[in-house]
Amino acid sequence: MKTQKQKSVLVLGSTGSIGESALEVIGALPHRFRVVGLSAGSRWQRLREQIREFRPEAAAVADGHEDIDPDDCDDLLACELYLGENGVLDLIDKVNADIVVGAISGWAGFKPCLKALRTGCRLALANKETLVVGGRMVRETAERSGAEILPVDSEESAIFQAMQAGRGSEVRRIFLTASGGPFLDWPVEKLRDATPAQALQHPNWDMGRKITIDSATLMNKALELIETKWLFDVDPGAIQVLLHPQSIVHSMVEFEDGSVLAQLGAPDMKVPIQYALTYPERVEGAGMRLDLCDMRRLELRAAEKEEFPALKLGYEVARLGGTSGAVMNASNEVAVDAFLSGRIGFTDIVKVVEKVLTEHKTGPGRELAELELADLAAREETERCITQL
Ligand SMILES: NC(=O)c1ccc[n+]([C@@H]2O[C@H](COP(=O)([O-])OP(=O)(O)OC[C@H]3O[C@@H](n4cnc5c(N)ncnc54)[C@H](OP(=O)(O)O)[C@@H]3O)[C@@H](O)[C@H]2O)c1
Repeated sequence: MKTQKQKSVLVLGSTGSIGESALEVIGALPHRFRVVGLSAGSRWQRLREQIREFRPEAAAVADGHEDIDPDDCDDLLACELYLGENGVLDLIDKVNADIVVGAISGWAGFKPCLKALRTGCRLALANKETLVVGGRMVRETAERSGAEILPVDSEESAIFQAMQAGRGSEVRRIFLTASGGPFLDWPVEKLRDATPAQALQHPNWDMGRKITIDSATLMNKALELIETKWLFDVDPGAIQVLLHPQSIVHSMVEFEDGSVLAQLGAPDMKVPIQYALTYPERVEGAGMRLDLCDMRRLELRAAEKEEFPALKLGYEVARLGGTSGAVMNASNEVAVDAFLSGRIGFTDIVKVVEKVLTEHKTGPGRELAELELADLAAREETERCITQL
């Protein structure tokens, strides 16, 4: 039963790392939130368990639903079930939630997030690729419908929180922190032979496979540079990436008077997820607490573009805009898959993305169809580059 204060929440990508954490946050605050919708990619068995626990009105399975046996799926069918890529879009219309958690990974999250924004909801955005692919379109869509975008990414949440200490016009610089991933101390020559198993061992965060590889290449930070530009309307030149292996300082904002505001927290995504749901309120919830007395050191040093080729691409794409974000994202998705399946080496990921970007002629990227075409063409071009390696 919905009480007056309860907000309805739709979790897109509920079977993933962020989706599961979001459900933990919601489960710890039952008087505030009620799950009205859930969506999975292909892991419908896990979705079935979530439906049993959270009793949503409707759910969607985007992929792999051919395996669903209706005789063995009473739980799954207890709510309205939508199937296929369009099923996720229908689910958004059906439940019309107050808050949508955008936690589908990659390009697949773009259209659902756009659709959610058209409903005028609060979008708790984890899928940074949405802003990388179509930042301008996303912002314009939100402005038209009155939707709010609250960042879930820990770095973007930190910037969002620090920004509240001053006016946008008073911001001088943004310091985006990066853990550096598992290979921070590896010599460059050794990186060529890094295996998927080694790259998937993130020192601080337990995340989905794609973002874990992006953290190891620092492509994740390149994506966040672009995300930061669109979320906070800042010039990419005002964003400095700092290596911070402890993942405690989630990012910082420097104001004109020289004050630097940082947000600190344990490396636990439940904290920024909860803030995106409860903002502007802060309440006790499921997130881990930081023990400052037990902290031995906090290191910070500048990450140079020359040292990390992915960062150089991130700055270029943030400046170029248009279709270049869709191309960088698509090419990276294909290259990461190729690395995980053993078709290319670790250092080939960024090399291939750079090659595809260099050959792309950037268009304005104002229409969905243009972004879809750029995405598709970049995937084909990346496959071609991979076969030529
Ligand atoms: N994990 C983190 O700590 C973290 C931190 C900051 C930002 N983010 C961002 O949050 C997003 C999700 O990351 P994650 O780590 O949670 O990824 P993940 O564990 O791989 O989960 C991805 C979710 O998306 C679903 N999905 C995959 N392909 C789909 C498709 N074609 N259509 C519909 N749904 C699909 C998956 O469903 P199935 O599993 O059922 O196939 C799963 O529910 C990414 O954009 C990532 O960059 C993550």
